[in-house]
Amino acid sequence: MASPVRKTCAVTFSIEDYTRITGKLDVEGVDFDSFAPQPLDAATLRCLRYMHDVEHHTICYLRDLLVTRVHRDPEITTFLTFWSFEEYWHGEAIGRVLEAHGEAGGVRRIAPMRARLGRRDRLGPVTSMLSSALTGEFTAVHMTWGAINEWSTQAGYARLAAKARHPVLTDLLRRIMRQEGRHIDFYSSEARKRLARSRTAQRMTRLALRRFWTPVGAGVMPKPEVDFLITHLFDDDEGREAAARIDRRIDGLPGLEGLGLARRALERYHWDPSLN
Ligand SMILES: [Fe+2]
Ligand SMILES: [Fe+2]
Repeated sequence: MASPVRKTCAVTFSIEDYTRITGKLDVEGVDFDSFAPQPLDAATLRCLRYMHDVEHHTICYLRDLLVTRVHRDPEITTFLTFWSFEEYWHGEAIGRVLEAHGEAGGVRRIAPMRARLGRRDRLGPVTSMLSSALTGEFTAVHMTWGAINEWSTQAGYARLAAKARHPVLTDLLRRIMRQEGRHIDFYSSEARKRLARSRTAQRMTRLALRRFWTPVGAGVMPKPEVDFLITHLFDDDEGREAAARIDRRIDGLPGLEGLGLARRALERYHWDPSLN
């Protein structure tokens, strides 16, 4: 049977190719021991704690998603199966960097994080189920949301590598970013296709993004951590250009011009060193 190739004007994504190449992040040759004599700076470690926790939260995000109409599309659920597996290993790899600095990584960080998540997290599946039931175009909204989050994540890793200037961290983040690139291809091709065929999908997605979108992790991480990460990675010339690039990518999706989500996030989340 022919491979189910999903074609758009921007990206061609084959779910069969993806299931063939997906895998545990390859960390062969990454010299985690090099962090002992050449440790990362405090700001980089603070960002890595955030990224570790958010990568490991993917499975909870998946829990909320599978109770929605998204689960009806078998190609999407195939993608989500391997996507969640890959994100797990991103979290584990970052956990090894934290452990190389004498900090907790993996379950020793995840368990207390899960414990402090409150009612909003426990209600996640209910909120998603209701949103899906009330929104006929929920899958288009979610695919677009996923594309924006993957664009932002990849930009965040690129900015962290550039700011930290540590060759071993750069190597590790580049490996993670290669997999994030495939996540981008899937979500953005799905979003483009679904938005292009329905004005209602465009309207619903614009409304949802304008009213509810927050940067990756902002729903589960403490506000000072979100403020710090965004200010550290994006509040300089290169960072603002990276944020503008995310906005231009969103502008390129059918019917989503002019939302300015990344620019507005930079205005909304600002770290004040006197408060931390
Ligand atoms: Fe990831
Ligand atoms: Fe990803």
